[in-house]
Amino acid sequence: MEITFRKADRLKDHPDESSLSFGTRFTDYMFIMDYESEKGWHSPRIEPYGPMLMEPSTMVLHYGQAIFEGLKAYRSASGAIQLFRPKENLKRLNRSAERLCMPALDEDFVLKAMVELLKIEKGWVPEAPGTSLYIRPAIIATDPYIGLRASHTYRFFIILSPVGAYYPEGFNPVKIWVTSHYVRAVRGGVGEAKTAGNYAASLYATELAHKEGYTQVMWLDGVELKYVEEVGAMNIFFMIGNELVTPMLNGSILSGVTRDSVIRLAESWGTKVTQRRISIDEIYAAHDQGELKEVFGSGTAAAISPVGHIKYDGREIIIGNGGVGPFAARFFKELMDIQYGRTADPFGWVMPLE
Ligand code: COI
Repeated sequence: MEITFRKADRLKDHPDESSLSFGTRFTDYMFIMDYESEKGWHSPRIEPYGPMLMEPSTMVLHYGQAIFEGLKAYRSASGAIQLFRPKENLKRLNRSAERLCMPALDEDFVLKAMVELLKIEKGWVPEAPGTSLYIRPAIIATDPYIGLRASHTYRFFIILSPVGAYYPEGFNPVKIWVTSHYVRAVRGGVGEAKTAGNYAASLYATELAHKEGYTQVMWLDGVELKYVEEVGAMNIFFMIGNELVTPMLNGSILSGVTRDSVIRLAESWGTKVTQRRISIDEIYAAHDQGELKEVFGSGTAAAISPVGHIKYDGREIIIGNGGVGPFAARFFKELMDIQYGRTADPFGWVMPLE
């Protein structure tokens, strides 16, 4: 399939890189492609970023048949641009598509389209420390129909956003609130898929957490409300004694690309990593015994985010001294060094743009 290009009449001013926040600015162009049952995916095109016209009856607006991904393009000191494990995001996009009854994409073609878009937009990849170009691919259901079934038509698009740190705290520890009332996902549900509804489901408890002065919610399992699953926009890791523990993927937890990278980095250092069920009670007990050394989250947007405080069932614990622990600092540094091309990439994770 040939990708067509429609030029913008006028290009936007670029934001001030020293004060970039997350997800507020978008580049000049986007990639779009449509799906119809008879034609498959068709009409791939790069066109000026702008509103998408849709009828109020469009299915995604009613039944939330929407999935997305998040990855980043990083600028190295030499000015080169590189992607981090993009194929993993595209594989996960197709896994989410299957779960949401959407047609699969040709991952090689989508990667090619993403690269073509990025080559046009490479001037938007910021170079200030800690900044990057966030890439948001998404698929939405587009049938103008309000009966409940899977849509027969879809739109795939990729938009780009120059970003700074996800949390206002930057790389400083965040405060996490554990809810023992609300759940994000349940056994047999769509927790593992990167679908819009999971994020909508998280909003109410997140607002409660904010009111209490906490940044994010830590979710417990939806069956027993006992085992830790994940945190707002991240997977979660606990350093207990000398062992790095993270909840095992059980169908209701997002299989994070950064999560996997943390596990593989830790293993390469000789650190014992265990993926298993871990209860919130065990975490509090480890803290009380002085064994809970560090807690941190991982995600594309959030990168590595240390956790300084956890509040559960009316009791707040402070991890370490509430500051950044040595493991979180090392993961942050080593991941960033690979992502920004400051060090060799022994894992083959980085894909240069050209
Ligand atoms: C990401 O980390 O890329 C995500 O998609 C999480 C989102 C809430 C920003």
